[in-house]
Amino acid sequence: MSLLSVRDLEVGFDAPAGEVRAVRSVSFDLAPGERVALVGESGCGKTTTMLAMMGLLPAGAVVSGQVLLDGRDILAGGESSMRPHRWTDIAMVFQGAMNALNPVRRVGAQIVEAVRIHGGSRRDGRSRTRELLELVGLPADFAARYPHELSGGQRQRAVIALALACEPRVLLADEPTTALDVIVQDQIVTLLRELSDTLGLAVVMVTHDLALVPHLCERAAVMYAGSIVETAACADIVQRPAHPYTRRLVDATPDLAGLRPLSSIPGVPPRLDQVLSGCPFQPRCTDAVESCETTAPPLLDLGAGRSCACHLTEVVA
Ligand SMILES: Nc1ncnc2c1ncn2[C@@H]1O[C@H](COP(=O)(O)OP(=O)(O)OP(=O)(O)O)[C@@H](O)[C@H]1O
Ligand SMILES: [Mg+2]
Repeated sequence: MSLLSVRDLEVGFDAPAGEVRAVRSVSFDLAPGERVALVGESGCGKTTTMLAMMGLLPAGAVVSGQVLLDGRDILAGGESSMRPHRWTDIAMVFQGAMNALNPVRRVGAQIVEAVRIHGGSRRDGRSRTRELLELVGLPADFAARYPHELSGGQRQRAVIALALACEPRVLLADEPTTALDVIVQDQIVTLLRELSDTLGLAVVMVTHDLALVPHLCERAAVMYAGSIVETAACADIVQRPAHPYTRRLVDATPDLAGLRPLSSIPGVPPRLDQVLSGCPFQPRCTDAVESCETTAPPLLDLGAGRSCACHLTEVVA
């Protein structure tokens, strides 16, 4: 059985021009210890999906669907059914979190507080802080430092330590390497992989950087305009992308040797506060055929852990 299953998740935000349908029928599964990447360009709904899974969307957001933890829906009962699982079963490293540590409190005090909120004593908190700092590769005496006394990479490690304070089984990491240099990016990805291996931690890594994905994750889901348009093993996503959008994303990822010219994706994603008819990628798709304009392609199971929402793939399948 899956540890975590998201089923038909929908999120809408009220906005002056009409409801923003930020997440549209998103479904995916996560096995214990599994690492899945959620990729897609800015605004496609990655963060909103993660916040919905944590029950942390702002008031007024309209959410439907299921978030099944050990087969039980923790979304249905609202805050009271989500609260017992937040941080203890599912934890999150927020986008830009390394800059969100409290600047006037020592790192250790912030971790002790996280442990105490969930019922640990101050002494538990202090010994757990030492353990957690060591776990994320920081010297235990960093507990006495203020966030500004840490480098960006060290701050990101501290934020990961905070998220692990209550021994969660699932970590949602939202752009954990953005704003870090490539060497530190690699270190953070390695840390997440080691934590996942040693703690049996399942990880969802949100990123717009496709190049990082195979270094951490076994599977990837590609999101476009609020929907998942392709899922596959990372090697397949990168080497044999099935959806035209995934292909364009792969082509837009720089190669260091400069052998391949950089190509961006012309056009912009559709506005999510307007009704979309047909395939949402159709206006930017060079392969589009007539049916793409009128009918939205379903996410079709292609077997071998692969699915794709494209009329052209349907023909092949
Ligand atoms: N509180 C909100 N009210 C209205 N619209 C929102 C709100 N939060 C997000 N949105 C909209 O929902 C869509 C998805 O946003 P989201 O932050 O999930 O994207 P993202 O994929 O995480 O992007 P990025 O890669 O830039 O972080 C966007 O169109 C955004 O403008
Ligand atoms: Mg985001």
